[in-house]
Amino acid sequence: MLRLGVLASGRGSNLQSILDKIDSGALDAQVVLVLSDNPNAKALERAQSKGIKAIACSPKNFSARLDYENSLVEHMRKNDVEMVVLAGYMRIVKAPLLEAYPNKVINIHPALLPSFPGLDSQKQALDYGVKITGCTVHFIDAGVDTGPIILQKAVPVLDGDTEETLSARILKEEHKLFPQTLQLISQGKVKIQNRKVLFLK
Ligand code: GRF
Repeated sequence: MLRLGVLASGRGSNLQSILDKIDSGALDAQVVLVLSDNPNAKALERAQSKGIKAIACSPKNFSARLDYENSLVEHMRKNDVEMVVLAGYMRIVKAPLLEAYPNKVINIHPALLPSFPGLDSQKQALDYGVKITGCTVHFIDAGVDTGPIILQKAVPVLDGDTEETLSARILKEEHKLFPQTLQLISQGKVKIQNRKVLFLK
């Protein structure tokens, strides 16, 4: 069974959706570790309440940024993590983790990449005036939200939307798309060719 290590900085609703799909049998995977750079992240509580190992790993406790990054790798390896899942992790993933887990770090982003990368994607979409936005699950590479796209889901922008209403509509889709992607990976159906993601039958 695919062993997942989750990195999360906050609320952890995507982590919860993954845990719920595992419980319901729709996702053949196991969350073996949740790490957070924020000791107060609700994601840590969610993991603990399911008896999952949850560790706060704050960069502030390391004298060099690289030491923090290396400690993430150490935790992942120690727990035999096979796939790293960024579920609302608010930092750029650096070389140590990417080198330890090549093409095995995935992220969910609340926009249809390559549109609106980086922070506040829902606000970027509203400010731009697009009629359709959505969410994207992609592999992480050295850039910001630039890695190979696995799955995307479109979400309409409605008249009168605020950042909150649009974010909530997108989040609902995120909660389906992320576990769905993980299930395809768990079944060995996802292959990267150059920067294109192909699905095996
Ligand atoms: C989500 O909108 C996700 O797309 C983005 O950060 C947010 C995390 O939410 N990367 P949650 O912590 O999973 O509730």
